[in-house]
Amino acid sequence: MKKFYITTPIYYANDQPHIGHAYTTIVADVLARYHRLAGDEVFFLTGTDEHGSKVAESAEAAGKSPQEFCDEISAHYQTLWDRLDISNDDFIRTTSNYHKKGVERFLSKLHEVGAVYEGQYEGLYCTGCENFITEKELEDGKCPDHNKEPQVVKEKNYFFKLKEYLPKVKELLDSGGLKILPESRHNEVLGLLRQGLEDFSISRESVKWGIEIPFNKKQVTYVWVEALQNYITALGYGDEGENFKKFWPADIHLMAKDIIKFHALYWPAMLIAAGLAVPKVIFAHGFFTINGHKMSKSLGNAIDPDALIDELGSDAVRYLLLSQFPFGADGDIKAGSFAIQYNSDLANSIGNLTSRVLAMTEKYYDGKVPEKDFEFSDEVAGIWRQYKKAMKEFQIDKAVEIIKKLNAFCDGYVERQKPWELAKKDPEQLAKVIYNLLEAIRHLGLMIYPIMPQTAEKILASLGQTDWQKTSLKELQDWGGLELGVSVSKGDSLFPRLGGKEKE
Ligand code: MSP
Repeated sequence: MKKFYITTPIYYANDQPHIGHAYTTIVADVLARYHRLAGDEVFFLTGTDEHGSKVAESAEAAGKSPQEFCDEISAHYQTLWDRLDISNDDFIRTTSNYHKKGVERFLSKLHEVGAVYEGQYEGLYCTGCENFITEKELEDGKCPDHNKEPQVVKEKNYFFKLKEYLPKVKELLDSGGLKILPESRHNEVLGLLRQGLEDFSISRESVKWGIEIPFNKKQVTYVWVEALQNYITALGYGDEGENFKKFWPADIHLMAKDIIKFHALYWPAMLIAAGLAVPKVIFAHGFFTINGHKMSKSLGNAIDPDALIDELGSDAVRYLLLSQFPFGADGDIKAGSFAIQYNSDLANSIGNLTSRVLAMTEKYYDGKVPEKDFEFSDEVAGIWRQYKKAMKEFQIDKAVEIIKKLNAFCDGYVERQKPWELAKKDPEQLAKVIYNLLEAIRHLGLMIYPIMPQTAEKILASLGQTDWQKTSLKELQDWGGLELGVSVSKGDSLFPRLGGKEKE
């Protein structure tokens, strides 16, 4: 059995989750569910990043202690992920003891091997970015991303010898031992290397809310340095955990392009210094705007994921977010078109096909599978090959297109065969047509599962398939799984049409 370790970034516990965090987490869930379906042993990790000045300042503004504040935000993240059917195997909080223990061990290791040294940091720091920033990057004296003046920092820090380890990182990037995807991000990372990077500070003297540096208790760990380590501490790195041996290195760290430098350069360099393997793939997808604008509280255009789930249901939210723009690229979310797309892609397609075919089976055959036939067998086998390739290569939007293709293929078949006419003149052909459609819907249900797990369960249950998760995908994807005589039933509508002014 192959293992598959997938992670999302751990999100800052300084504010409530928004649709951007939901997007990455849904993508990770789709990949985790696909790999489980394909028979891999999966470990899917997400969590919250709870230390540092950004969180401490937000807690203070809310009149709460940092821990109390983080507890609330982290709980909100966990509830939201439950509502979105996120199947994470663990949820790490960086304020947990096992994380602290792992970080202490990792930093001691870096110290032991001589990868850190004491120095003086003098420069600017943007709390919004939780990052050191240069004069050159400022616009009108402010950080362009946070519209805030940076703090002037002058303090004693420990530094990591980044420059010493970068040649090894470059070797791994060149050999494919560390893959940065999509290709454009790989080039971006090479560009950063060409510009030249300085050693970076791994501790803060003036910050109190953090994990103490094991070799100097007057300093806390720079929040990014400990945050990255969540990917190993969650597996029990601090305790010689079984999971660490089994799952490290990560098969994919998923994130958006905003945090690629930390993941593609700083993190591998630190791992190499500590004598650990580097992640296999770093996938940095694009950043999206909402109705053409950057998501921001002041613009009031942030979409509240909870409200969206209340309105459309979890599966539709998952589908609609994934199908707004090609995966990997930057894009725009047009929230106003959600209802139109819901009706066209879900209600009128998957929902309509399923209910039509099941209703005909009830009408003509008293809800029993009438026949076994193999007309669609080759077509569907080809679709499975394309689907599996797309999922393996993290091409989620392609996988969605393939599902739509199968749906359209079935719709076209219904239109050509006209079962309502066959019922009058060719009952033998009708039984074959109904079988091919029912069996194709079973395959559609399986392919939909990573993307819309509730809908998939409903489709498969209406076809009398209850214990399907115990069967291997190899067997499930074989044509003919639906047996003669099995009872099927239409059940409730999968996606009731949305009315109102958004109607097509
Ligand atoms: N805490 C750090 C990550 C540490 S990981 C070791 C952090 N947190 S964050 O809360 O700011 O989350 C950033 C991530 O949220 C992005 O990399 C991306 O996964 C997701 N997104 C936030 N806004 C988004 C968009 N507008 N578009 C796409 N992804 C979005 O950085």
